[in-house]
Amino acid sequence: MSLVYRPARADDFVTADALVVGSINDLTVRHGFGPMATASPPNFQLFSLKDDPDGLWVAEDGGEILGFAWSWVCGDVWFLAQLFVDPTRQGEGIGNELLGRTMGHARKSGAAHKALITFTFNRVSQGLYMRHGLFPKTPIYLFNAERERAMQALPESPLRPVAMDDSVATSGKLAAIDFHAIGVSREKHHRYLLSDPATTGFLFYAGDDCAGYAYIGSNGHIGPLAAARPELLRDAFATALKLAADGPAGKVSAFLPGSCDSALGLAVDQGMRISFPMLLMASPGYGGWTQYLPRSPGFM
Ligand SMILES: CC(C)(COP(=O)(O)OP(=O)(O)OC[C@H]1O[C@@H](n2cnc3c(N)ncnc32)[C@H](O)[C@@H]1OP(=O)(O)O)[C@@H](O)C(=O)NCCC(=O)NCCS
Repeated sequence: MSLVYRPARADDFVTADALVVGSINDLTVRHGFGPMATASPPNFQLFSLKDDPDGLWVAEDGGEILGFAWSWVCGDVWFLAQLFVDPTRQGEGIGNELLGRTMGHARKSGAAHKALITFTFNRVSQGLYMRHGLFPKTPIYLFNAERERAMQALPESPLRPVAMDDSVATSGKLAAIDFHAIGVSREKHHRYLLSDPATTGFLFYAGDDCAGYAYIGSNGHIGPLAAARPELLRDAFATALKLAADGPAGKVSAFLPGSCDSALGLAVDQGMRISFPMLLMASPGYGGWTQYLPRSPGFM
């Protein structure tokens, strides 16, 4: 049979997710981290496909999916959410071909900036991305802690959380904060998160000023989180930690970029531990995140 590269369809996503989970766990087990990934419903993939199908590709041989690539675009930022090849077929050029297809998506959309989050310990992915003009920017650590530990002596935050609504006014506040934090509005992605029953969004206020926002998952995960200014990040993270620890989950977690030192300092003070090291890679000039905590390697 011959290998073909074709646009992904909605009915590929369950199989593609199984491939992604298998590929992640093969990598993380090989590097001593144990299996990290479990299957999840492909909700964000389906959202992206409906929004802009140009970014989703599969490599297929005789009806079997061997690789999956998925990118999305917001404004002038292109982001590679996933690139995975079946462990038994890695090193044969499939990842490079799939990446080429999603790079075509970046060109077609006119994106000025490109970024992705990969595994710090994967030499192959980093080398491949550098070949395509994406370079290491900052480490991103997945931190977590038991919720009781994270709450111990947690500094009182001056910021007041208010549950997000889907009004035009809220949308405008989110767009303004995102523009400062990551250079682009993610209006459609906020709509996606607001419709996720397992996640609650909050705006953080200092008096009447909107100082940031965060989403808190029912599993205790924080993110994305953004502050209106870098000096507000620590307080925003403290507010989010309190909200997450007040929730139903036994643990709290967040992805913290190395460039967000005030949040890293607070995480360590609260006894949070690094469970997984990742890496932000970006085209030159993008990715100096000092007031943004991503949600996940795929959502950004
Ligand atoms: C990363 C991944 C998608 C790449 O796909 P692939 O089909 O294995 O890769 P390809 O064969 O197309 O390209 C491999 C390229 O990586 C680069 N590479 C490999 N080892 C390298 C090293 N030690 N140093 C630098 N670059 C290296 C080279 O450019 C190589 O191409 P070449 O052999 O032609 O020179 C795949 O290996 C994979 O799924 N890995 C596990 C999951 C993962 O990390 N995914 C990325 C998540 S963001």
